[in-house]
Amino acid sequence: MLPASPASRNPDPADLLAWYDRHRRVLPWRARPGERPDPYRVWLSEIMLQQTTVQAVKPYYEAFLARFPTVEALAEAPSEAVMQAWAGLGYYSRARNLHACAKAVIEGHGGRFPADEEALRALPGIGVYTAAAVAAIAFDIPAAAVDGNVERVMTRLFAIEAPLPGSKPVIREAARGLVPESRPGDFAQALMDLGATICTPRRPACALCPWMAACAARAAGTQETYPRKEKKRAREMRRGAAFVAERSDGAILLRTRPASGLLGSMAEPPGSEWRADYPLSQAILDAPLDARWRKLPGVVRHVFTHFPLEVTVFHARLAADVQAPEGMRFTQRAALAQEPLPSLMKKVLDHALGRALDASASPVQGSRW
Ligand code: ADE
Repeated sequence: MLPASPASRNPDPADLLAWYDRHRRVLPWRARPGERPDPYRVWLSEIMLQQTTVQAVKPYYEAFLARFPTVEALAEAPSEAVMQAWAGLGYYSRARNLHACAKAVIEGHGGRFPADEEALRALPGIGVYTAAAVAAIAFDIPAAAVDGNVERVMTRLFAIEAPLPGSKPVIREAARGLVPESRPGDFAQALMDLGATICTPRRPACALCPWMAACAARAAGTQETYPRKEKKRAREMRRGAAFVAERSDGAILLRTRPASGLLGSMAEPPGSEWRADYPLSQAILDAPLDARWRKLPGVVRHVFTHFPLEVTVFHARLAADVQAPEGMRFTQRAALAQEPLPSLMKKVLDHALGRALDASASPVQGSRW
């Protein structure tokens, strides 16, 4: 049950749709008015937009679509090509699931995304939110796509006091109650735009909001205090070591991470486990081969969803005829851009090669891959 609203009226989906017709964002994956949405593009954008901002996704989306213009092209591509096109977007299990999903659409659905929330939900990498978003946007099915932005809008609109994440079912119910039979796809996108441009986390632009008069939090002047959240526990820092071996012919030692787990199937310079109690003083025991390893000053920091990480980087120079240990490979510097290196590993390489260069030549600025 939603609390009684102190606002002067109920939110009307038609008001939001009228606002959307005037203020909708132009986005590369969004069909223009009157245009039929392409389910492949809708799905691809929704997977990319999971945990990644619109601004960050735009260039990746365009490049990915140019490389894999159809679900068939994506399904047939080698997994290294998919991972490489994804590299930099993070959360790499999304890319593996994306590829698996494209194959499942070809093999199980004749190459067409199913126009059904349940059937979409059964595909790899498609959760409750994405199934609803694709159903609504691509097929105009009245489904409630509730992500963090929509949660914020709903908790304000109805002044939902229960904290997240426990309040999710109540929020979803509130959103479902608003989805109109007509234009549910536009309604889903309108809610996204409202959350992104008006009902922002800080200093929401209530004066411009089509639902201002219907918003319970606004009526009470408490809009910025929503959504309520349960207190988070601080996440424990993990530490580890990375080993950048550089041959005199310019090749760098790399390996591929295991397919499952964090940064699965991505490339990296060999390194240690990452643990809260990693014994840095004995890091050299984790080196991939015997060499004159030099511990570089400073650390590379990275924040994963579940923990922050500090990597200490070691560097060694090797002769040109050194062979890669089993399961590893040497990649020429000039070919590093073709390796599926996640951002963290690019930072590690920059740290090592930048500093190694600093020691002998002038400093190099910015990322070189
Ligand atoms: N966030 C999640 N999905 C989105 C979409 N289709 N458009 C804009 N922002 C989004």
